[in-house]
Amino acid sequence: MTLLIRPLAGPAEAEACARLMAASEPWITLGRGFEASLRVLTDAARERYVAFDGERLAGFLILNLQGAFVGYVQTVCVASEMRGRGAGTALVAFAEERIFREHPNVFLCVSSFNPGARRLYERLGYTFVGELADYLVAGHAELLFRKSRGPIVGYGPPRRLRLLALAGSLRRASVNTALLRACAHLAPAGVEVVLYEGLGTLPLFNPDLEAGEPAAVTDFRVHVRGADGLLISSPEYAHGVPGLLKNALDWLVGGFEFIGKPVALLNATPPATWAQASLAETVTVMSGRLVQEASLDVPLRGRKIDEAGIVADPALAEPVRTALEAFTRAIEGSGSPPPPGSGSPPRG
Ligand SMILES: Cc1cc2nc3c(=O)[nH]c(=O)nc-3n(C[C@H](O)[C@H](O)[C@H](O)COP(=O)(O)O)c2cc1C
Repeated sequence: MTLLIRPLAGPAEAEACARLMAASEPWITLGRGFEASLRVLTDAARERYVAFDGERLAGFLILNLQGAFVGYVQTVCVASEMRGRGAGTALVAFAEERIFREHPNVFLCVSSFNPGARRLYERLGYTFVGELADYLVAGHAELLFRKSRGPIVGYGPPRRLRLLALAGSLRRASVNTALLRACAHLAPAGVEVVLYEGLGTLPLFNPDLEAGEPAAVTDFRVHVRGADGLLISSPEYAHGVPGLLKNALDWLVGGFEFIGKPVALLNATPPATWAQASLAETVTVMSGRLVQEASLDVPLRGRKIDEAGIVADPALAEPVRTALEAFTRAIEGSGSPPPPGSGSPPRG
């Protein structure tokens, strides 16, 4: 199953979700019809997310991040044909990631007549808090569960790392770009992966242009400077690094942005050893810090696969997840990169 979770967009999606809710347990027993479901789904005070398996609506989430018991998962709804296939677990994991970014508690309620849901949440590490008798409808209780990362006082959101992702291909269906987009979903909590989409707008490197730097180059520099690390995934063209990527790196040679910058090299089309070796050499001579334990081959050559397909395939996703954890550890263990002026940028 290929599941992509993103914010709910537009009235048609809200209606599709409301139809799903009104036709599903526990909402049937709780007497929540289409109109009431739609009211909840169009309440802008809530955060609403949809999960799609390709074109098909697999389920949705409603989160409440306001009020006394902040961090409340109000609704996890999974389409009946998607149940038992990991969609519920994926939605709950998404909700936790979202809530723990700001708050140390995730709360949710399970209806007393829904023992399957209770088992799921206990398996996911939730603790039973108490019973709210006759809470939504007479005769049924809501059971309050909580997962906690500690007390509210002193809880700070995990430090956010920002990784800038550079793809060496401009192809629309590029497996390298798909891999980097997948990294955004597979990175540890608190680590943001941003794909830099402007490499194709950089002019061809010419030292004569450095004095009056083109705006596209400045934008690229600013993004590199602001990143805690670079993730590079590039194809090999004729046993070399594609001009697109080499050109971008050439623009950084004369600056300080790259010095000490942690870099992980992903290779979506192994073996491609020439391009990888050449990139490693370029990164090293430019005084970047190549993080070997985060550099990884991911066999995607010739595959028609997008980011969701990569995320959904454990044989591809798990090594990437592990590499990103290693990259995060390497960055967090390294402190700040050397300040500007502490080394001379190599020339040639
Ligand atoms: C012009 C060109 C040259 C290529 N040369 C090589 C090569 O030398 N070695 C290699 O392993 N693959 C080579 N390939 C195959 C690419 O690695 C493969 O098409 C890859 O999927 C391209 O990456 P993308 O999907 O991100 O666009 C070449 C592809 C093209 C278009």
